[in-house]
Amino acid sequence: MSNSKIGVLFVCLGNICRSPLAEALFRKAAAEEGVESRFRIDSAGTSGYHDGDAPDARTTETARMRGVEVTGSSRRIIGEDVEAFDYLVVMDAENLREVRRLVRGDGARIHLLREFDSEAGDDLDVPDPYFGGPRGFEDVHDIVERSTRALLDRIRADHGF
Ligand code: 4NP
Repeated sequence: MSNSKIGVLFVCLGNICRSPLAEALFRKAAAEEGVESRFRIDSAGTSGYHDGDAPDARTTETARMRGVEVTGSSRRIIGEDVEAFDYLVVMDAENLREVRRLVRGDGARIHLLREFDSEAGDDLDVPDPYFGGPRGFEDVHDIVERSTRALLDRIRADHGF
């Protein structure tokens, strides 16, 4: 068994709504299964729009109502992240395009989070809730919670633990 941690980086546009939530919910699921110490978990944005900002209050409040704390400070993804993390998990097709530009050739490690969502239809985007899209923060929370649990199952299966 390798003693190095499995790196999982969640990526969205602003790193204040979807990806910090995914980071928190993946960490919670791993902790509940007693495997948190196997992972290094982080999140980043493809933009620097909110560099240094705390997560969006609408995200943290929705999560808090469900007993989940979302923390962190927004940062933009950098080239070194591509080497440093084993799984690069993006929220939508636009993030996918941006991260692919950084990765060059090793696209297999990039996943859309909703690849793991058993309830996703043809649309594999986690909707961007920031501008009050058709689905709100509650829906995003449900999608991300379901998908991060399934991602954890998948990674545990990949690594046999
Ligand atoms: P996120 O949401 O990508 O889920 O963090 C957004 C946050 C900020 C902006 C867009 C999306 N923005 O344009 O500032």
